[in-house]
Amino acid sequence: MPTIKKVLVAGASGYLGRYAVNEFKQRGYHIRALVRDPEKIKSVGAHGEPAIHTMIDEIIIGDVTQPESIRGICKDIDIVFSALGLTAPHPEHTSNDVDYLGNKRILDQAMEEKVSRFIYVSVFNQEKMAEIASVKAHELLVADLKQSGLSWAVIRPNGYFSDMGRFLSMAKSGHIFMIGEGEKKINPIHGADLAKICVDAVEGESREIAVGGAKVYTFRETMEMAFKACGKSPWITPLPFWLAEGGLIVTGLFNRNLADLFSFAVEALKFDHVAPPYGTRDLKDFFMELAMKND
Ligand SMILES: NC(=O)c1ccc[n+]([C@@H]2O[C@H](COP(=O)([O-])OP(=O)(O)OC[C@H]3O[C@@H](n4cnc5c(N)ncnc54)[C@H](OP(=O)(O)O)[C@@H]3O)[C@@H](O)[C@H]2O)c1
Repeated sequence: MPTIKKVLVAGASGYLGRYAVNEFKQRGYHIRALVRDPEKIKSVGAHGEPAIHTMIDEIIIGDVTQPESIRGICKDIDIVFSALGLTAPHPEHTSNDVDYLGNKRILDQAMEEKVSRFIYVSVFNQEKMAEIASVKAHELLVADLKQSGLSWAVIRPNGYFSDMGRFLSMAKSGHIFMIGEGEKKINPIHGADLAKICVDAVEGESREIAVGGAKVYTFRETMEMAFKACGKSPWITPLPFWLAEGGLIVTGLFNRNLADLFSFAVEALKFDHVAPPYGTRDLKDFFMELAMKND
C-alpha cells in the first residue's frame, strides 16, 4: 500500500488556503493545518471558500509572529504549502513580519526536517512592483527558498476572484471610484482552479509558475460585471493616479501598514496582469453567486 503523504498547509483559513486543503484532501494527503482561529474554518468563507474543519487531520493553532506557537510544525511533514500572508492591515505587524519573517520561521523548520518539497505562493509581476512592501517581503522569502537546498515551487498568481470581490461590495453601494481609466487587463483566477495548480506543483523540478484564470478582462469590465451581478447600472468615477498616490502619502503619515497594503492595489492598476491561463471558472458566475449569497 502506498504511504500517505503529510502536507502542512500554512494559511489554511484563508481564501486560497481553504481551497488548497480541499484539493490536497481530495488527492489523499494527510493534512496538518496551521490556523490562528479554529472556529473560523467551521463555516464557509466570505467569498464562498469551503469550511474545512472536517478535512483536517491535525490542527496547529499558532501565529507565525510568535515563534513558540509554531515550534515543531514541520515534524514528520513531507510537503509544506504556504499561502500564508498579510492581506489586511494589522495594528502591529508589517508585511515583512508576516510574509517574510513569519514564512521564514516555517522555512527554517522545513530545512531542519528536510521536507521533500516547499511550495510558496508569491505574486505575479513582481519585477514591476519590486518596491511595494508586500512584494518585497514575498520576494525575500522566495530568495531564501531558492537558497534553502530544498526542492521548491513558487506559485505566482495575478489576482484571485476574492480580490475582485471588493468591486462587488462597492457596486452594491451603487458607485465605484476607479483609480486610473480601468483599461489595464487581468485574467483573475478562482481559488479552486488555482489550488489544482498549487497541488500539481508538488511534482516535477523546482520552478516558478505564473498563473492566471481562463478569461481576460479590463479592470473596467470587471467593475461593470460587478454592477450587473447586483442588478445596478454601472456608475464608475475615474480618479487620477496622482490623487490616489497623494492619498497614500497622507494615509502613511497616520497608518504606515494601511498605506503599504493599499499601495499594492494602486500600483497594480497601472499595468496589465495577464498571466498564463488555467482553470475554467468564470468571474461572472462568481459575482452572481456572491451577490445572491449576500442578498
Ligand atoms: N488575493 C490575491 O488576489 C492575491 C494575488 C496574488 C498573490 N496573493 C498572495 O497569496 C497569499 C494568499 O492570499 P489570500 O487572498 O488567500 O489571503 P487570505 O485570505 O488573507 O489568507 C491569508 C492566510 O494567512 C493567515 N495569516 C495571516 N497572518 C498570520 C499570522 N501572523 N500567523 C498565522 N497565520 C496568518 C491568515 O489567517 P487568518 O485567517 O487567521 O487571518 C489566512 O489563513 C498571500 O500571501 C497573498 O499575498 C494574493
